[in-house]
Amino acid sequence: MSASASGAKREQWSSRRGFVLAAVGSAVGLGNMWRFSYLTAENGGAAFVLFYLLIAVLVGLPLLLAELVVGRGAQASPIRALEHFGGRRWRPLGGVFVLTGFLILSYYGVIAGWTLRYAMAGIVGGFAADAGAHFGEVASGWDAFAFHGLFMGITIGIVAGGVKRGIERTAVVLMPTLFALVVGLALYAFWLPGSSAGYAYYLSPDFSKLLSASVLKDAAGQAFFSLSLGMGAMLTFASYFDRERNLAGECLTIGGADVAVAFVAGLVVFPLIFALGLEQAVGGSTLGALFITLPQTFVELGMVGRLVGCVFFAALAVGALTSAISLLEVVVASAVDGLGWSRRRAAWLAGGSATLLGIPSAASLDFLGLLDAVANNVFLLGGGLALSLFVGFAMRDPSAEIAPGTVAARWWPWWRRLLRYAVPAFLIFVLAFALPETWAAGVAFFASAGG
Ligand code: TRP
Repeated sequence: MSASASGAKREQWSSRRGFVLAAVGSAVGLGNMWRFSYLTAENGGAAFVLFYLLIAVLVGLPLLLAELVVGRGAQASPIRALEHFGGRRWRPLGGVFVLTGFLILSYYGVIAGWTLRYAMAGIVGGFAADAGAHFGEVASGWDAFAFHGLFMGITIGIVAGGVKRGIERTAVVLMPTLFALVVGLALYAFWLPGSSAGYAYYLSPDFSKLLSASVLKDAAGQAFFSLSLGMGAMLTFASYFDRERNLAGECLTIGGADVAVAFVAGLVVFPLIFALGLEQAVGGSTLGALFITLPQTFVELGMVGRLVGCVFFAALAVGALTSAISLLEVVVASAVDGLGWSRRRAAWLAGGSATLLGIPSAASLDFLGLLDAVANNVFLLGGGLALSLFVGFAMRDPSAEIAPGTVAARWWPWWRRLLRYAVPAFLIFVLAFALPETWAAGVAFFASAGG
């Protein structure tokens, strides 16, 4: 048994496969499909995809390994894990992580609620002919809140069930299902006549967009969001993992699976939209694009469209569920470790609060968008910066935690140098653009809400 920062006996994943699938479940979610496709459309297609891939590999993977190392090494939730390796003064950072978890979960559940509602529409009654008006009804008010509550109830139930019997069991069943659905959808889109314009848009970069700082900021935020980085989610999952394994391998598997699903999701979304000649909708893309343009496509495809649409939104809901679980688990693990609460109590109280916190996002799409910008541009990028410095400087010997008991690999010191200099330099650069932009968006929101 490994030493534990909390001293108490901790639950563990039952197998390596359980850990990897749960972590992939955290990474793969609405970020890969909803967020990735609307940001790609907003930022000019392939240029954005290229940026995102580069940042995911050069910045995302080193930070993912950093989170895994801290969590597994300490065998504790974020606040305690940071204290374990860095002393008491790092505890507030763990507190910020827990807060970020609440923040993201509050609006993430709202969007996940839309996906549930749309998946059901595929079965009952079909998709509405006027997709834009229908989205307006689904995405705001009590309807949105009701489905958000339903989704959160399921999430809470699973987290309350425990690491092995709740989280791991769900991931082991749902993740392979999700992969099969997404690949199936991509193949279907491939055979649709006219879909080739979608591939061209998605895969050939518009280099005039490549150099803008705003694209860079969106790509960085997306890499963090998609890999579940910057708020201790991966850290928490790794804390239930045994110390026998080499974490570098797991890091590549998790990162690779996440990027692959995002990429394949693009192979579903863009060909489907372009096959039906709806590309004008892509140019003016916003946060609701996936929920307006795609259902329009499904309506035009008739009965087949209903089936395909149902499968598509069910896949989205599945991805959202395993991700929301990881967001809630950060809060729950912290309450269990730090306050001595039972898991059941922590899950219902934390999940219930996050559900209530979602009310403003259910009421206003603009507010939801603002929260998403603040969470990504401020908290995830900032949290990533702090974590990079933590593992780069404050931890005594992080490399020793990658694969305890084995000979150091030659690249390990390079990983640490990356965390000390390159990753922080990049994040400070991006934050310098992201912070003022997010501030301005906040001011604009409250000015228009007030007047
Ligand atoms: N990665 C998930 C997605 O792509 C969302 C998510 C889950 C997340 N846990 C996280 C994002 C922690 C940031 C931090 O949908």
